Amino acid sequence: MNGKHIVILKGSPREQSNSSILADQVAAGAKEAGAEVEIFSLSKMEIHPCRACEACHASADSQCAIQDDMQDLFPKLRAADGIVIASPIYWFTFNAQTKACIDRWYSLESPQGNALADKQFALVLAYGDTDPYSSGAVNAIRAFQDMTHYLRATVAGIVYGSGGEAGAIQQPKTLAKAYELGQKLAASG
Ligand SMILES: Cc1cc2nc3c(=O)[nH]c(=O)nc-3n(C[C@H](O)[C@H](O)[C@H](O)COP(=O)(O)O)c2cc1C
Repeated sequence: MNGKHIVILKGSPREQSNSSILADQVAAGAKEAGAEVEIFSLSKMEIHPCRACEACHASADSQCAIQDDMQDLFPKLRAADGIVIASPIYWFTFNAQTKACIDRWYSLESPQGNALADKQFALVLAYGDTDPYSSGAVNAIRAFQDMTHYLRATVAGIVYGSGGEAGAIQQPKTLAKAYELGQKLAASG
């Protein structure tokens, strides 16, 4: 172990999903390079949408008022060195499970700064169409870039690929890129 802790957030509801296959390659690369990896399947967790109640920003310790599985995830995100978002493209952007989780990060902002600042982020996307433009993956990539810029976080890399049926994403180059991204995440910082 090299002391690095990577959290992977899988947004797909499918078993053996394409974004999940890429995320597992990231995990394998990170583990091979000595990092500790924790994977969370967002679709199996109870994650409610942000209510914009502002209770988090009114509380001294940025506590989100919604009592669901994000309460287990927040400490993991705060402690992580690297965070990987792995999402399928639905309707030309992140799917709802992924976006609901990201929206809840609103509570991690406080006058002391953002709890996710200075972390390494990576993005993994799978889509059914042939390329990042026609699929709408570009929209998720653009949002990810704005998000990480806002957070003052670092982008370790972005990997995406095409695959319609679950398990279809087997392009060796794409899988290798995901593996290398994991190695980079484990090494950086
Ligand atoms: C509700 C829904 C919406 C989708 N919208 C898009 C889309 O906008 N663009 C696209 O290229 N593929 C779209 N797809 C196809 C998925 O992105 C594709 O099957 C991908 O491999 C799913 O990733 P996963 O296996 O990780 O779940 C959609 C699929 C579903 C179920």
